[in-house]
Amino acid sequence: MSGLNPISAPAALPASDLIAHALAGSAPDLAAALGAAHLPVADLAEPGRRFFGYTTPEGADGLYGGLEMLDGHGLVRSILVPEALRGRGHGRAILSALLAEAKIAGARDVWGFSPAAAAGFFTHHGFRIVARYEVPQAVLGARVAQLTCPISTAIVTRAV
Ligand SMILES: CC(C)(COP(=O)(O)OP(=O)(O)OC[C@H]1O[C@@H](n2cnc3c(N)ncnc32)[C@H](O)[C@@H]1OP(=O)(O)O)[C@@H](O)C(=O)NCCC(=O)NCCS
Repeated sequence: MSGLNPISAPAALPASDLIAHALAGSAPDLAAALGAAHLPVADLAEPGRRFFGYTTPEGADGLYGGLEMLDGHGLVRSILVPEALRGRGHGRAILSALLAEAKIAGARDVWGFSPAAAAGFFTHHGFRIVARYEVPQAVLGARVAQLTCPISTAIVTRAV
């Protein structure tokens, strides 16, 4: 797709030292943590979503990430690093892991609905902010799109 930063994932992002484990969307700790961070929770237990919890090498947890596949488009979501653990590369590691999962799942591109405050995190990693008219219908139709405020949410995309 033209206009995307040409860096490719996951090669352009460093390997993660986080330990990942698959998590059911119905996991109470997932909903509690995402809810406290004002990220969407109403659809977590619906089919077609994959979630991961992550533990740091020091044993800290409370880190999360999620992925949906929407008609060949990857949707990264639910990326959360506890405030006390931010600024240490964990968010980047989670994003890298999710991009790798999206690539394995055959995604042709990756999208995200980001709180405005985190949009810079995505653009820092090769995403660009797009207008709604540029977003494929399959992505706009995602439940998470309806669960985020259109005014305070940036829609971001990049190649895989
Ligand atoms: C966004 C979030 C995941 C970033 O996690 P983090 O662990 O602090 O990020 P990292 O330490 O891996 O940052 C990697 C790089 O991104 C940059 N970055 C991180 N957050 C940023 C932001 N909000 N705006 C701009 N740049 C940001 C860092 O400065 C760092 O840059 P550097 O490599 O040049 O030093 C974290 O702030 C968070 O959990 N926010 C609340 C939930 C949220 O909004 N999630 C995203 C939408 S699902």
